[in-house]
Amino acid sequence: MKIIAIINHKGGTGKTTSTLNIGAGLARIKKKTLLVDIDPQSNLTEGLGFRDVKVSIYDSIKDDVALPIASVSEYLDIIPSSLDLLGAEIELVSRLGRETILKRLLKSVEGKYDYVLIDCAPALGMLTVNALVAADTVMIPLEAEYFAYRGIDRLISIISDVRTHYNENLTIGGVFITKINPRRVITEQITESIKKYFSDKLFETSIRVNVALVEAQLKGVDVFEYAPLSNAAVDYANLTDEIVEKI
Ligand SMILES: Nc1ncnc2c1ncn2[C@@H]1O[C@H](COP(=O)(O)OP(=O)(O)O)[C@@H](O)[C@H]1O
Ligand SMILES: [Mg+2]
Repeated sequence: MKIIAIINHKGGTGKTTSTLNIGAGLARIKKKTLLVDIDPQSNLTEGLGFRDVKVSIYDSIKDDVALPIASVSEYLDIIPSSLDLLGAEIELVSRLGRETILKRLLKSVEGKYDYVLIDCAPALGMLTVNALVAADTVMIPLEAEYFAYRGIDRLISIISDVRTHYNENLTIGGVFITKINPRRVITEQITESIKKYFSDKLFETSIRVNVALVEAQLKGVDVFEYAPLSNAAVDYANLTDEIVEKI
């Protein structure tokens, strides 16, 4: 079982879209996958059609109740989030062992999945630290914009602190570029600068801009179901294959 945290301190870089569609991509090739939404905004939860969730990851974090695992399809499950999770950052401050709560909770699913994907909030607070402590590896989606990796040093330094104190085997599994527009002249320059910065950590697959991703999320389904022939379905299938191969 591989636990992958999808992290970037910036919003809108494609964390949630990628978690959802990589998860669906893994499920399509019969890899049993669990998605964990730890963003209070709950975009992943809602993007898979779950609304007004009664029990969320918040209840497990706060009161240690069993993880509320819901089934999406035969090979895909999700642990939903809820807005209550906004309070968790503050409530965790005085808790003993606050960095390892998610890791301990995920012990209960040990061996039940091939992959666990954790969708993080665009923040580097205690919930993101919990994801890093629980994870085997980190994947960072970067938007195809200049300075896409501005502030990434802060993330890398937190990863290194987590390694020192809690999780010595934590790796950076890879970086991938999202929202690429191949017709834009600067796209190539941006890709080159990201490649220089991350060298062999940069995945070959990039995700092109594609409105099918937005529409699929609004419908509460993954892009393979919504638009199986779209560029987005092709890109996420390729990215999924690359993850299976490299991680
Ligand atoms: N490749 C893409 N093409 C077009 N829109 C995208 C793409 N990836 C993400 N989006 C849209 O951009 C917005 C932000 O993406 P999201 O995955 O929610 O980012 P994050 O979780 O990092 O904040 C969403 O509305 C999403 O539908
Ligand atoms: Mg998100």
